[in-house]
Amino acid sequence: MSNSSPDPTPGARPTGVSDPASAAQNIQQMFDAIAPRYDLLNHLLSAGIDRLWWRRTARALRPILARPEAVVLDLCCGTGDMTLALDKLRPKPRNLIPQGLKPTSLAASIGIRSTSLRTGSEAVPLSKTSLSTADRVPQVSTLRPGSEAPHNSSPEPILAVDFSRNMLALAQPKFADRNIRAIEADALHLPFADASIDLITCAFGFRNLASYPDGLAELYRVLRPSGQIALLDFNQPTGLMGALYSLYFKHILPLLGRLISRDPRAYTYLPESVARFPRPPRMIELISAADFTAPTWTPYTFGVAGLYRATKP
Ligand SMILES: C[S@@+](CC[C@H](N)C(=O)[O-])C[C@H]1O[C@@H](n2cnc3c(N)ncnc32)[C@H](O)[C@@H]1O
Repeated sequence: MSNSSPDPTPGARPTGVSDPASAAQNIQQMFDAIAPRYDLLNHLLSAGIDRLWWRRTARALRPILARPEAVVLDLCCGTGDMTLALDKLRPKPRNLIPQGLKPTSLAASIGIRSTSLRTGSEAVPLSKTSLSTADRVPQVSTLRPGSEAPHNSSPEPILAVDFSRNMLALAQPKFADRNIRAIEADALHLPFADASIDLITCAFGFRNLASYPDGLAELYRVLRPSGQIALLDFNQPTGLMGALYSLYFKHILPLLGRLISRDPRAYTYLPESVARFPRPPRMIELISAADFTAPTWTPYTFGVAGLYRATKP
């Protein structure tokens, strides 16, 4: 779909899908399917630039990350590399989980849902996972991050959220020995109390939400006043870079992606979702319409990607 076409609900719509609930289910299944090859493909197809983008985003957020009491949520964390870039700039707890502790025991402490996940109004069955049954604990109730214990000098853990169990299963070993809690949840229905989070990052995930206004409203709900969002995502550059981008993104990347991921949908969906994603002026409008203040967009790598930032007043 052309970006200029009016769309009553701006949000991701994989080919053949027309309503938000089916879009979310389709996207969840797609990420579950490509999870085992996601990291390889990502680094290969972006020639490692993704690492620079994650690090640059984390550096831009250094002042808030440096505050031990700040509650940080990395939304759509996938296999966890953005979360790790954030974690590098967090103060370190004095008694971090000892080396060698099984990563799965972290999962048991976090509230991974055991049965089904709600996206929109429909319950979406979770697919098979490499997480063992021991990792599955009862349904997450509403969490109030930062309220489990009175705050002392121990930094709050980063909350890493995704609705693809298979992506999270690959993040788990990376999170072992780190102050990170993985949580399986839908970005449009977060299991967090109102006004409980100080910073929400989302790298290459927001574009996949079935409704951008609903996504922004949910981020607004869980943020504390003065809390910030930082959304890193692709953009369609213009000029010479735009032409090169189109050649690579629309032709070469889907071909390589199909060959390596063996999932014909995934890397056709990627350029389509970027083409459909609002351009920076429209995204800024959507962010403002969700009542955030001072929205900005900083282009990365000639505008191939960029970082949206805004504050809840
Ligand atoms: C392209 S990956 C990005 C992963 C990671 N942030 C990165 O930078 O590599 C997008 C992730 O968003 C997740 N996602 C998409 N829609 C979601 C939703 N509604 N709720 C939670 N996670 C979602 C997918 O499962 C997937 O892991």
